[in-house]
Amino acid sequence: MRHLLDIDDLTPAELGSILDRSEVPDPDAVLAGKGMALVFEKPSARTRNSMEMAVVQLGGHPVTIRGEEVGLDTRETVEDVTRTLAGYHAAIGARVFDHRYIERMAAVDRVPVVNLLSDAAHPMQALADLLTIRQELGRLDVTVAYVGDANNVARSLALAVCMVGGTFRIAAPPAHRFGEVDADRIAAIGAVEVFDRPEDAVAGAQVVYTDVWTSMGQEHELDDRLRAFEGFTIGERLMSTAAPDHIFLHCLPAHRSEEVAAEVVDGPRSRIWQQAENRMHAARGLMWWLMEQSGT
Ligand code: CP
Ligand code: NVA
Repeated sequence: MRHLLDIDDLTPAELGSILDRSEVPDPDAVLAGKGMALVFEKPSARTRNSMEMAVVQLGGHPVTIRGEEVGLDTRETVEDVTRTLAGYHAAIGARVFDHRYIERMAAVDRVPVVNLLSDAAHPMQALADLLTIRQELGRLDVTVAYVGDANNVARSLALAVCMVGGTFRIAAPPAHRFGEVDADRIAAIGAVEVFDRPEDAVAGAQVVYTDVWTSMGQEHELDDRLRAFEGFTIGERLMSTAAPDHIFLHCLPAHRSEEVAAEVVDGPRSRIWQQAENRMHAARGLMWWLMEQSGT
């Protein structure tokens, strides 16, 4: 049974195959007559809609469930919810606060489990990001400058960029960088460069990327984070130092004039809407591949 808890659950070759499949508009109906359960402990616009539509495009039926409806570890255990859903569905996707929940779901090992964002990782986002980079720049071995918090999105993106031979740069205040374990795990796959100043990370980069400074579940840290990230807002002057053919990406939702100025996120080098749409194409490519792997 294959699961996708983070992007490095895939080999680089599998990752390439999923990206290729993501470009195929008429995939095999591998989910015909089958369902996929999508459990959300947190809000979502892109992930829910892109996963639901990907399942439909593969001939299946998505069932979206709010976390509080099933009560993970409150109404019943994560394992019992997973066993129950596996009786109806060919796959389970889940967006959870605690990454250990998604690991426990996968450990049940009845149907493939896909991480739809946890505190530690966002692999579905990383797939769409690579797809967008490949479509726009024609290759994947590029330099990605990430300016902001070393969060779930940054972690999966860093792994993904390194897996495809790119260079991942991050500019963040010291308290908001990857911990030693994550840094070592990413560095074991490829090149990671850490910078104090956004200017040094962005200079000459083909892709400039950011995400919110305060992720879902960290709202109580908002004021501290606004202070810590002062000077890290991506503006037009910073972007002008990137490579001539650079693109700007953001997983969204965006907070204009916090992590990025409106002129950049809405500007001519921004590819955020293509990136958001690619969430659906990448989800379709992933689920097509995953269903074939699982033989379900
Ligand atoms: N990028 C992303 O995962 O968006 P949602 O939180 O809206 O799903
Ligand atoms: N880092 C953000 C990503 C949202 C898609 C969060 O976890 O809230």
